[in-house]
Amino acid sequence: MKLCKFLPALLAIFFFASLSVAAEDTAKEVNTIDELVAMYDDSGCAECHQEIYDEWKKSWHAKAIVSSLKGMRNFVAVGLAQEWSKPVTKAQILKCVDCHAPAVNFASEELAKEIAGMIVTAFEKEGTKAGDEAKAELAKLNVGCLSCHNIKATSVSRGLRGDPVKDAVYGPHGNDSEGHSTIQSKTLTRSVFCMQCHGIYYAPDGEMIQCNTLSGSYANAYLNLGGSQTCQDCHMKKGHFFPGGHDLETVKEGLGLKVEVTSYQHLPGQIPGVKNEAAWVPSAVVDVFVKNKAGHRIPDG
Ligand code: HEC
Ligand code: HEC
Ligand code: HEC
Ligand code: HEC
Ligand code: HEC
Repeated sequence: MKLCKFLPALLAIFFFASLSVAAEDTAKEVNTIDELVAMYDDSGCAECHQEIYDEWKKSWHAKAIVSSLKGMRNFVAVGLAQEWSKPVTKAQILKCVDCHAPAVNFASEELAKEIAGMIVTAFEKEGTKAGDEAKAELAKLNVGCLSCHNIKATSVSRGLRGDPVKDAVYGPHGNDSEGHSTIQSKTLTRSVFCMQCHGIYYAPDGEMIQCNTLSGSYANAYLNLGGSQTCQDCHMKKGHFFPGGHDLETVKEGLGLKVEVTSYQHLPGQIPGVKNEAAWVPSAVVDVFVKNKAGHRIPDG
């Protein structure tokens, strides 16, 4: 019981210790996509984890930038440039890529801007040499092995655990191997780990970004009604393939349901029928009265 007295002091020490580590680690920022990829290189993981690598490669996590190009181009070229007249900065582009390609946190300001430019080029010049080149570069960025097993592994408990240890692999069991030293992270097995990306992003400037409202409905409409499975229980049955709305079998598992969708602002784009007006598009309100067996709202998550 005596420990309680010292706990605040101990926590404070941990906290400040982790802050100073953070300052050192995040100081390193790189200027090219290839350096960024090398920093969190996961091509080597395949050597010993071939099956997991192949599953991941087929997952949406492996193409999290190139499959979302249209929305990202609209954010940069319509939202920032036209609607809000804001300069493209690293802080702005992180409002998308902190989740879609976490390694970009370690890009220099210049590289982050360059990536924003590539997103616009890849979408607007699709099919041309310039467009295809930009897309090929962007395809190197994604939610990779080390996005989950390092960069995002400690962020839901950063106050206590600090920034991740560079070059370590965070895993559910904590067994070292000949390939890497491993740090145990139970967080990886919990829903909060997924919810940091499948939820709301609070930007340093106070803006709230929400791609989907899944975590909210998981907490409010599933856990609250007695549901007890984690995201991992349902979505990692097939390992790292992470099936979801693009997988027919998983969709069937989740059907028939009752969904109540409150309206919210979707990504910037064109409002149908309004000539040349770009705006945050309000999403449709949908009511579906079938039975929902998924752990959250569907089909939009
Ligand atoms: C670093 C951020 C991040 C983390 C952590 C993360 N995801 Fe994702 N996830 C994404 C992004 C971004 C996409 C969308 C990729 C795309 O469509 O371009 C995605 C896509 C998915 C999909 C596919 C959805 C579909 O439409 O088929 C599933 C399922 C999924 N994630 C489940 C999970 C689960 C379960 C966890 C926790 C174990 C998790 N994710 C952790 C960022 C993340
Ligand atoms: C909090 C983390 C997070 C942030 C920040 C974020 N996204 Fe996403 N995004 C996701 C996840 C997770 C998915 C996959 C959702 C799903 O399949 O249900 C996704 C999916 C998408 C999709 C595919 C949607 C679809 O209907 O297929 C697009 C496009 C997209 N995001 C664009 C953006 C843009 C543009 C930004 C910046 C304004 C952004 N995202 C910011 C996490 C995020
Ligand atoms: C979207 C996040 C995410 C990505 C991307 C990801 N993993 Fe994982 N991985 C997890 C989670 C979460 C667990 C723990 C699942 C559990 O035990 O509930 C896990 C578990 C593992 C395990 C332990 C499996 C076991 O038997 O317990 C290995 C090995 C692994 N991942 C390797 C990889 C490799 C290699 C890649 C890249 C090819 C990768 N992961 C990409 C989230 C991810
Ligand atoms: C030289 C082979 C080798 C390479 C390369 C390798 N691993 Fe592993 N990894 C292993 C072995 C073996 C284990 C199982 C250790 C055990 O359970 O005793 C393991 C376990 C893991 C685990 C689970 C750890 C735990 O106990 O919680 C994760 C996560 C993981 N590896 C991720 C990765 C990622 C990500 C990469 C690439 C950056 C990678 N590994 C590269 C051999 C390798
Ligand atoms: C009880 C099982 C279950 C739980 C728990 C669960 N899901 Fe799902 N999830 C499903 C099923 C089934 C689907 C397919 C339904 C559909 O999209 O029609 C799905 C779909 C998804 C999709 C794709 C949505 C889309 O855009 O089509 C994502 C992303 C996702 N889940 C992530 C998560 C995350 C993150 C958590 C934890 C916060 C979670 N799920 C918890 C069963 C579950």
